[in-house]
Amino acid sequence: MNTAISRDDCLALDQADPLRALRSFFDLPKQSQPTIYLDGNSLGALPKATPTAVAQVITQEWGQDLIQSWNKAGWFNMPQRLGDQLAPLIGAGHGEVVMTDTTSVNLYKVLCAAAELAQQRHPEKRVLLSETSNFPTDLYIAQSVCNQYQLRLVLVDASAVKEALTADVALVMLTHVNYRTGAMYEMAEITELAHRVGALTVWDLAHSAGAVPVDLREANADYAVGCGYKYLNGGPGAPAFVWVNSQVLGTTTQPLSGWWGHVRPFAFDTNYEPQPGIAQYLCGTQSMLALTAMRCGLDIFDHAKTLGGMTAIRKKSLALTDLFMALCASRCAAFGLQNVTPTDPCYRGSHVSLAAANDGYAMMQALIARGVIGDFRRGDAAGEPDLLRFGFTPLYTRFVDVWDAVQQLVEMLQNAEWKRPEFNREQVVT
Ligand SMILES: Cc1ncc(COP(=O)(O)O)c(C=O)c1O
Repeated sequence: MNTAISRDDCLALDQADPLRALRSFFDLPKQSQPTIYLDGNSLGALPKATPTAVAQVITQEWGQDLIQSWNKAGWFNMPQRLGDQLAPLIGAGHGEVVMTDTTSVNLYKVLCAAAELAQQRHPEKRVLLSETSNFPTDLYIAQSVCNQYQLRLVLVDASAVKEALTADVALVMLTHVNYRTGAMYEMAEITELAHRVGALTVWDLAHSAGAVPVDLREANADYAVGCGYKYLNGGPGAPAFVWVNSQVLGTTTQPLSGWWGHVRPFAFDTNYEPQPGIAQYLCGTQSMLALTAMRCGLDIFDHAKTLGGMTAIRKKSLALTDLFMALCASRCAAFGLQNVTPTDPCYRGSHVSLAAANDGYAMMQALIARGVIGDFRRGDAAGEPDLLRFGFTPLYTRFVDVWDAVQQLVEMLQNAEWKRPEFNREQVVT
């Protein structure tokens, strides 16, 4: 990447961008100073279609048609329909995905199902392997599943996962793109190594779906879950998704055996009998308002398909992150900000994190005050550094946004604006 790239060069890149039309599908902030939103890896932006679509469900489908909408508006099958809409983005087949519940809840379901299966196949295997810097909810859920199934949770650094795949591993649970560093695993390779030792794989695609190409079937993964509110733009608290390989789906059941997963929910049987397909991963009544907003996020990917789909999205994502990393390396290193995201595109997701020795939180607050929105993730006692995180959603982020964001970052650092007291008061959500 040529770091002498000018703002005009970035404008030219935007002109040539095959995905440029997709930005107009979003309602981006219109404050007096321009906002550059680089936090779509945490909460995706609002699709323009969402307010009208949700209002229609409220006023017409709920307000006028009331209970009839379960049939008339097709409410009841929304989790399956949206699962089918999402499926091509993660290399899943028709009828293999449902959108439902949260990532944490879905993780609990798949980990229990996987633990049952592991116990049937290899009762002597007692280890659930994961990564030390996996997202905390994944580790917390894994801890309770380990207690339930008398498994031992073993956590290793990302670089040690392959060698930790030994004969005693029953399950390996990994987040495909790390929430802190943006580092990405080679899913097919890890899955193959896991299968060689007889372990099952559970993948969290929270930072992958809609951002990087994923091929669950090609990788022969066993279970996967992920978020709807990040790169898929389904809105705060959007329904998450769950996928199970058809080879393992019928072998065990998930523990939250609610009536939506029953084979005949309206027979109101006394005994639970799971649906044969992925709908067995549903539990109870879903929010139609949330699913409607989720659909609006997924609809934009249908448009993206006509402009090159995930291949074009990945190409732009790498170009945006390359540009950001190159500009930061040449302009921010003097201020002690160090890139921790892999420069090798094979191992990089769609966000970039800069390690800050001190005052990272205040730096991010000062940058947000200048209209550039990223976020902050604190390090830990084990030596993980504090991080300034910047997400690049190719559907609405422009090359010129990257250039302007770095310019704002440099000016903020040069003026030492982060030293002001108002930027040093920590809020609940960082
Ligand atoms: C990797 C990963 N998994 C899960 C979650 C969140 O799960 P939930 O939607 O259940 O809060 C996040 C949130 O940022 C995440 O980064």
